[in-house]
Amino acid sequence: MSVLSSKEFPRFYGRRIGRKLSKSGILALKEGSRYILQYDKFSEAFLNFNKKIVLEIGFGDGKNLINSAKHNPETLYLGADPFLNTTVKCIKQILENNINNIKIWPDDIRKILDLFPLKSISEVKLLFPDPWPKLKHQNRRLIQINFINNIYKILETNGTVTVGTDHKILKSWILEKFQANNEFEWLVETSKDWQNRPKDCFLTKYEEKALNEKRMPSWFVFKKK
Ligand SMILES: C[S@@+](CC[C@H](N)C(=O)[O-])C[C@H]1O[C@@H](n2cnc3c(N)ncnc32)[C@H](O)[C@@H]1O
Repeated sequence: MSVLSSKEFPRFYGRRIGRKLSKSGILALKEGSRYILQYDKFSEAFLNFNKKIVLEIGFGDGKNLINSAKHNPETLYLGADPFLNTTVKCIKQILENNINNIKIWPDDIRKILDLFPLKSISEVKLLFPDPWPKLKHQNRRLIQINFINNIYKILETNGTVTVGTDHKILKSWILEKFQANNEFEWLVETSKDWQNRPKDCFLTKYEEKALNEKRMPSWFVFKKK
């Protein structure tokens, strides 16, 4: 499902495909094709929605994406994730719940950041991004100075980026990288602001795993000035 030459973009290091898709998975992809964004029709598909837009990057099996869309039918949710198996899981749930306010980009978000109109996104959610804990792999982390600058362009003024992680090194990394951009303000008044999941986010598979293994997540909300 890759749409552009990989030479043009930063290399993606995560998994794209896991187990072979089941028959029901293949069927869901076919039936749910209307939910999937195409690179060459991207702006057309996107501009047809005159709604508040929330972008979730790395939605995994879609728990937060699906619940958010159900609770806020007036908002359009764009979900990006290159891992086909979980994307299929998510599409199955979209079909089962007859959800009409989700669009899926089944690939690396960095391939389409340039396609969004400036200031078109109200919120960005990044829940439990891959930590790439080894020092030699830190360039593989999604949150980098360049990435934050690109997110900045597409966010509306006062728009927010919410990041959750249970990974110790990534917690400091996230703060360091966002604070390197003076145009973002970390919304924090008390420790509760980073200890508690924001009210507009739902429990995900990776948060549940972290809690079961006694790793406390931290939550960071950055506002574009
Ligand atoms: C650790 S999982 C977390 C999944 C989910 N958010 C959760 O909390 O359960 C990280 C997810 O980010 C996705 N991901 C990694 N790099 C990405 C990229 N460049 N663009 C979009 N998604 C990405 C992975 O495929 C994976 O599904």
